[in-house]
This record gives sequence, structure tokens and C-alpha cells, in this order.
Amino acid sequence: MKNLFHLGNLSVQEIMCILDQAKEFKQGMVYEELKGKKIANLFFEPSTRTQYSFIVAEENLGILPTNFNVESSSVKKGESLYDTVKTFEMIGYDGIVIRHPATNYYKELENINIPIISGGDGIGNHPTQSLLDLMTISEEFKKFEGLKIAFIGDIMHSRVAHTNIHIMRRLGMEVFTSGPFELDDFSSDYIDYETAIETMDILMFLRVQYERHGVDVTFSKEKYHESYGLTEERVKKMKPNAIIMHPAPYNRGVELSDYSVECEKSRIMKQMQNGVYIRMAVLKRAFEKE
Ligand code: CP
Repeated sequence: MKNLFHLGNLSVQEIMCILDQAKEFKQGMVYEELKGKKIANLFFEPSTRTQYSFIVAEENLGILPTNFNVESSSVKKGESLYDTVKTFEMIGYDGIVIRHPATNYYKELENINIPIISGGDGIGNHPTQSLLDLMTISEEFKKFEGLKIAFIGDIMHSRVAHTNIHIMRRLGMEVFTSGPFELDDFSSDYIDYETAIETMDILMFLRVQYERHGVDVTFSKEKYHESYGLTEERVKKMKPNAIIMHPAPYNRGVELSDYSVECEKSRIMKQMQNGVYIRMAVLKRAFEKE
């Protein structure tokens, strides 16, 4: 049984193994060892891509998925996360997928004896998103070493950026941040936005997470788009082989223009597709012996 909460305790070799397996699933590999297993998907925060691509991945593997409904559950009577997850273990579930607004929520789940895969914890980590980002980059460039990537936007509130910055550095990529200083976490070298457009191999835009800012939002959408949005004019200044990424959902007209979402340089749709194969590989790994 192997949990997945972040990528910090996975070796580079283990990460490459997950990417390779995901690519094999994409090429049609059939794997029937998990047929009939029961997985509960517990999403305590809204999700479209992660939640539903886990369901597709589970169904592709013959797993029986259950979607937990927080609103009609005993969470509403005050039941804790631990007691909720322990209940799923006791009534016969084989594994759990969890997205939760609390950063490091998994630290209270040490006494759970079925595999847990995180679909994102607060502003902490989003391991399967990072893996599907790596898969997309690997398919594009066939390497990581030496690639230049800039994260642009709400880095402070982005679990995707936090996971990616750490693992991409370990893989030998040159990592920069750009966008408004107020949203940077200063974990990487800052690069001026217009310079980033012209020099990066990968521009990864991040959604301005208005829901995590409370009332303290200082940017109008129009002003943000003018200063840090990816307009058609800016796309045309990118290097010939450079690509655009975004974990989605995106704020159209804020960090991305309508044009840039599906333009020739965008790999955003491919990221979504790869999410299914990465989650199949991660589910397979979850039931492997330590
Ligand atoms: N990228 C991502 O996590 O999207 P969802 O919030 O829709 O799952």
C-alpha cells in the first residue's frame, strides 16, 4: 500500500516510473489487477478535472468508484476527517482519494490502513496535477534538464506551483516566478513578465484564486489582464518551440485570453487528457507492495 500526499518523498526514479506507466496506459495498456476494488472519492473542495478524471481512471481500471457527498454526510454533524475516512476503511473500501481545504490534512490520517491519494491539500500540494504536468512536458521536450519554466500569477495560493517548483528543480529545470509581487512567495528567482514571455520554454499560468484572497483583492480583472495576461500579441513573442500550460480552471480575460486557451502553443487540453493516465498509474502504484 502506498499513499501519495506530495512528491517530496518519491525518488526521481519512482517519479519516472509513474510517468512511464502513464504513457503506457495512454498507449492502451490493459491492467486488470484492481478490478472490483472499491474507492471512495472524498472532495471537500470543488473540483472538475481532478474529481472526474479520477473517476474515469478508476472505471478504466475496473475499480468501483463512490463519490462522497459532503453535504449529505455526517461531516455536517461535526464528524472529523479522521473518523470519516476510518469509517470508509471499516465498511470495506479499498482506497480513498481526498481533496481537502486544510493544508497538510493528511497528517491526521496516519492510522488509516488503506491507501490514500491526495487530490490537493489547501495551499500545500497537488501531486497528481504535478505528475500530469511533468508527463505533458516530457511528451513535448523528451527531457527536463535545462528547460526554463516560469510560473506566472498567484503563486502564493497555488498548491500546483508549490509541488511543481520543488520537483522541477529536482529534475534539473530552471524555475522562475513572475507576475504581481503581491502574489509571489519568493521561493524562486523572479523574472520580469515581458522577459519571461520571450525567453522561457514553458509558461505556466496560474489562476488568481479569488476565493482564497478573502476581501483583500487588489487587482481588477482588466488591470491584471493588461499587466500579466497572455494576450495574442504576447503569444506571438514566445520562442518558436515554447508552450503554454495552466492547471485550470482558468479565468478567461484575466490570466489567459480566449485566444491563448486553445492556440497552437497551448498544451492545456493535453494536460487534462494526461490527468486520466497519470491517475491510472498512481492508482496502480497505490496497491503495490512497499
Ligand atoms: N487542476 C485542477 O485541480 O482542477 P480541478 O480543481 O477542476 O480539479
